[in-house]
Amino acid sequence: MHFFLETERLIMRELLITDVDDMFELDSNPEVHKYLGKNPINTKAQAEAAIAFIRTQYLERGIGRFATIEKSSGNFIGWSGLKLNTGEIETLGTKKEFYDIGYRFMPKYWGKGYATESSIAVLDYGFQNLKLDLICGAAETGNTASNAILQKIGLQYIEQFPYESEMVNWYELKKEDYAKTMS
Ligand SMILES: CC(C)(COP(=O)(O)OP(=O)(O)OC[C@H]1O[C@@H](n2cnc3c(N)ncnc32)[C@H](O)[C@@H]1OP(=O)(O)O)[C@@H](O)C(=O)NCCC(=O)NCCS
Repeated sequence: MHFFLETERLIMRELLITDVDDMFELDSNPEVHKYLGKNPINTKAQAEAAIAFIRTQYLERGIGRFATIEKSSGNFIGWSGLKLNTGEIETLGTKKEFYDIGYRFMPKYWGKGYATESSIAVLDYGFQNLKLDLICGAAETGNTASNAILQKIGLQYIEQFPYESEMVNWYELKKEDYAKTMS
């Protein structure tokens, strides 16, 4: 799979096994996992397994999160992109089969608008290239940054429900509503 998306300041490409050290740095950081179930990883083998799982998704589901690179430095900053959650493996409350938009960056790259910038390109990719009808988003209620981003890029708040001892806000954006904002 040769995914390649470019924005003003970022490049998004497929995640590679060679990203393992960067993925370990990202996912072993408790600050990054504060609103992700508070369960950071401990070993590089776990980072390697996460990359392998995403690469399997590229092949089996046609999509998965993209490695995100800061153009000015060439550094891997984290990932951004779409995931097809399948009812067999991943569920979120009563949600069983859905594409969700997500992002996860190293703290040194927060606060620069990178999540917003990458997500705008990802929505475009989802609706234009993948021809999706609906893109969803979920964020723990306390995750102020993520809730702000989902709203800013046009997703509509739908409902709130408990998930793994936290409350989650659920958002959706329909193709026709996205098309309206583009016209
Ligand atoms: C969520 C995350 C990707 C945001 O990345 P980012 O590149 O810093 O996000 P952006 O700069 O594009 O936008 C963040 C927005 O939230 C706002 N924000 C951030 N923290 C905030 C806070 N504590 N209170 C109020 N607003 C806040 C910012 O002001 C910004 O909005 P603005 O552009 O209108 O000013 C990053 O914090 C991260 O990787 N967190 C860990 C993983 C995670 O929680 N992922 C999301 C799971 S749902």
